[in-house]
Amino acid sequence: MLYSETVLDHFANPRNVGEIEDADGIGEVGNAKCGDIMKMYIKVEEDVIVDVKFKTFGCGAAVATSSIATEMIKGKTIEEALKLTNKAVVEALEGLPPAKIHCSVLAEQAMKSAVADYYKRQGIDPTPIVGEIKECESCH
Ligand code: FES
Repeated sequence: MLYSETVLDHFANPRNVGEIEDADGIGEVGNAKCGDIMKMYIKVEEDVIVDVKFKTFGCGAAVATSSIATEMIKGKTIEEALKLTNKAVVEALEGLPPAKIHCSVLAEQAMKSAVADYYKRQGIDPTPIVGEIKECESCH
């Protein structure tokens, strides 16, 4: 089977889909290769990500990776969330086919972009904390 049970589960029943109207940070990234777009919303209280939601105009692997990524960062501090790599997401999904690894990068970047937006809204330069993020060219 090409996809693990976990991938199929998160694709069929994605967690934390939607948007947060009064989000503290919104991230949007796109992948130039496949044209897929991902948006992530975070709600932050005292440095803890108390809520996170995502929307994607993307493939099934993008849905599954963002779904599990939101579960992995919910309730975590920003510092802990930033340590989440796409590799950890792929491991949590019990693997992805090589052609679909970039989809997990999209989830990681969307999360980082939301955190960067959270810092920007407070007048803090996010680059030293979050690093460079390739944001969606068509949206910025
Ligand atoms: Fe582009 Fe999956 S094919 S995000």
